[in-house]
Amino acid sequence: MSSKEPVRFLTGITTSGTPHIGNYVGALRPAVQASRRAGTENFYFLADYHALIKCDEPARVQRSTLEIAACWLAIGLDPEQVFFYRQSDIPEIPELTWLLTCVTGKGLLNRAHAYKAQVDKNSAAGAEQDADVTAGLFMYPVLMAADILMFKANWIPVGRDQVQHIEMARDMASSFNHLYGEHLVLPEAAVDDTVALLPGTDGRKMSKSYDNVIPLFCSREQLRKHIAGIVTDSRAPGEPKSTEGSSLFQIYEAFATAEETAALRQAYADGISWADAKQMLFERIDSEVGPLRERYDTLVGNPQEIERILRRGAEKARARATPFMAELRDAVGLRNLAEQGKAAKKGASKTALPSFKQYREADGLHHFKFVDAGGRLLAQSMGFASPQEAGRAVARLKQGDTADLGQAVHLADGVSDADLRQALGLFASA
Ligand code: TRP
Repeated sequence: MSSKEPVRFLTGITTSGTPHIGNYVGALRPAVQASRRAGTENFYFLADYHALIKCDEPARVQRSTLEIAACWLAIGLDPEQVFFYRQSDIPEIPELTWLLTCVTGKGLLNRAHAYKAQVDKNSAAGAEQDADVTAGLFMYPVLMAADILMFKANWIPVGRDQVQHIEMARDMASSFNHLYGEHLVLPEAAVDDTVALLPGTDGRKMSKSYDNVIPLFCSREQLRKHIAGIVTDSRAPGEPKSTEGSSLFQIYEAFATAEETAALRQAYADGISWADAKQMLFERIDSEVGPLRERYDTLVGNPQEIERILRRGAEKARARATPFMAELRDAVGLRNLAEQGKAAKKGASKTALPSFKQYREADGLHHFKFVDAGGRLLAQSMGFASPQEAGRAVARLKQGDTADLGQAVHLADGVSDADLRQALGLFASA
């Protein structure tokens, strides 16, 4: 049991569209590479519940789920090595969503970017503030937190726009732990600033909402057409061209080696024609994507195989989720009534042990509380700068050293010094 816990990474993709090369370069490709690191566990899932927030076309959700699953597999994700599943196959996720909903301040959700953006848009248009806002959009961060906390993920590789959601997941986890003990692992956003943020064909960020994307898996001919549509300036063949602000150049760079990029930079300076530069870009992308495209086409043509893989993935994921959800249900008091007496008796006869619960507050400080076996609060610490400092104070108390009392640690209301010493005594003699 003392062997090191693996570090867990978790990534979800909303199944409401078709992946483009920006998703590939910024998320899919690095995630598949990362999935092979030793000492890690990796969770990849299709966020189809999230898709319902913005898409009410059933056929589109189904198609997108198939395409995104095929995409992951075509790029080389090995479902045997990782956890690869569909969110809606894990009923524990909506169940955890409710438990988190009950510890989440409404005010926290009011501040979520996606919700606020809609409210701002409404007030700018003179509309009612919540016009066109579903409760699903409002609750989006809670569902996302459940995705993450369900599997005790440590790191969530995301783009900058998602960092706030990870912070909210941390907040929800701390609130839950504060109330019910240390059950949830606090996740952190892993933002990799070295991965390229691709511009689209019009120079703005590549995004479905700007209609400027180059699909990852279209035919060669379509790929060529999309690349031909990249906006360039009006410099003629023979005129030197600037790589600065050239989306063509930036896209090339995301696929090419350093030497290839240097060669294109030189070609720009030497006045390569835009037509030739586009041809180079087409060939470079196609040489990487071509072989993947073949695998992708085979997979999409074989939906029953993908369905089988996802169901197998769900089984593997639920082997974690089901027992963990049972632990959480117990923690909050959703319990088998017939076992009530048993638990109390067991407590009295054998392990009526108090316990220390460490947690982190929204202010970033580390606290702990000391509770008796029945869950009654005995003492509460002030904030410590690090979990280690909090841990050392816990260790002192466990050894019967009460020097911290009255300063870093306060007795709870109605608890006497003697109560505390007695509880600590129980603890020490166990
Ligand atoms: N909200 C994410 C997006 O739109 C998708 C997502 C859902 C997700 N659940 C997640 C990402 C959990 C990371 C972790 O991109």
